[in-house]
Amino acid sequence: MGMSTHDVIIIGAGAAGLMAASRAGSRGKSILLIDHSTKIGEKIRISGGGRCNFTNIYTSPANFLSKNPHFCKSALSRYTPADFISLVERYRISYHDKGRGQLFCNDKATQIIDMLVAECSSSKVLFQTGTIVHDIQKNEALFEVITNKGVVTAPSLVIATGGLSIPKIGASGFGYKIAEKFGHRIIPTRPALVPLTFTDDTSKLCADLAGLSVSPSIVSTGKTKFEESLLFTHRGFSGPAILQISSYWREGNPIHINLAPALNAGEWLKVSRKNHPKKMLHTMLEEILPNRLALALANLSGHDAQMANLADKKLTDIAGLLNNWTLVPAGTEGYRTAEVTSGGIDTTDISSQNFESKIVAGLYFVGEVLDITGHLGGFNFQWAWSSGYCCGENLA
Ligand code: FDA
Repeated sequence: MGMSTHDVIIIGAGAAGLMAASRAGSRGKSILLIDHSTKIGEKIRISGGGRCNFTNIYTSPANFLSKNPHFCKSALSRYTPADFISLVERYRISYHDKGRGQLFCNDKATQIIDMLVAECSSSKVLFQTGTIVHDIQKNEALFEVITNKGVVTAPSLVIATGGLSIPKIGASGFGYKIAEKFGHRIIPTRPALVPLTFTDDTSKLCADLAGLSVSPSIVSTGKTKFEESLLFTHRGFSGPAILQISSYWREGNPIHINLAPALNAGEWLKVSRKNHPKKMLHTMLEEILPNRLALALANLSGHDAQMANLADKKLTDIAGLLNNWTLVPAGTEGYRTAEVTSGGIDTTDISSQNFESKIVAGLYFVGEVLDITGHLGGFNFQWAWSSGYCCGENLA
């Protein structure tokens, strides 16, 4: 137990905290980086299926959700995917583009953690893991951080504790609580990039088809749509298209699924009826969909018969299932599996230059704890790097 003073205390040794620490440390500041977990960067380790989709070369502000869509622009333009890629290349970490500009490690995600730790070490960052923060006070110009290992103080305090997703590996609502304590507003948080669940007949259909994927599909809600693959699960839908739309979906609203985006299903069914009058509907559908899905949809339509016996009205119904299957999800799989948390600390009261609170001098917030949520595809890490970098380079 003791009391120590530093130039900067950073709470949260995840993506944003590690980046902020290495940059602030490189400016000659003494940095204490605290995490309650005994392991650092756990989310990086499990990310991208163990290969970490560390950025996206097409990153633009349009890839982020926020109450203030302009807030992310400055940091994204001052620390870009190219900047992070050059860091990765300096450490000779090999990577590949998995498509759509999504960059993954060839080998493993822990290389990214090792790189960030090495950067912190050369900046003489002091790590203190397994440390529980009980409370934070501000006295005059100093923050007092009261932990299970003693009290530490600093004139600058960075909160980089991330969102609520995956509590099992250390996510907590800590950042929001501290923000509120110091007078910040919170945009209501929700699980995002998360599978959608159903309770009605759809859930049974999904369970029967679990593991099957349709690629590409278009999934939309309101004016937002994503063309990517869709996956049937035991409780509903997942896959990139669904994860993306989950960030926009709201309870009670429908989603629309286009299982055959390349096809005008109404036209195609009419032509098929003319050319293949004796074929059963499900056999016909097998030409454009996986067999099990073709059969399930034919049954769902209640019209699995020979094509010649399907009246125009029935064809229209079936075309609707193919091009515009409309469903109301019951909910999401929640923070247990969500990749990110949407909502968070209202950016109105944060500087987009150095991420300092406009309410409390010396207090900074970076990364996912802010009300900035990226699409699937490496954007969330890019936000952590950009915000962490700009804070570390510019904090007082
Ligand atoms: P992050 O969560 O990384 O770090 C927060 C740190 O704070 C943690 O070390 C935590 O232990 C610590 N902490 C929390 N509460 C604390 C407390 N009370 N006291 C002390 N410390 C505390 N994104 C992407 O771009 N590409 C990808 O491939 C993936 N893949 C992916 C897979 C899975 C399964 C998940 C859950 C998430 C992703 N993401 C992703 C999202 C990405 O991981 C996430 O957006 C960033 O890690 C956010 O970085 P932060 O530094 O803000 O929080």
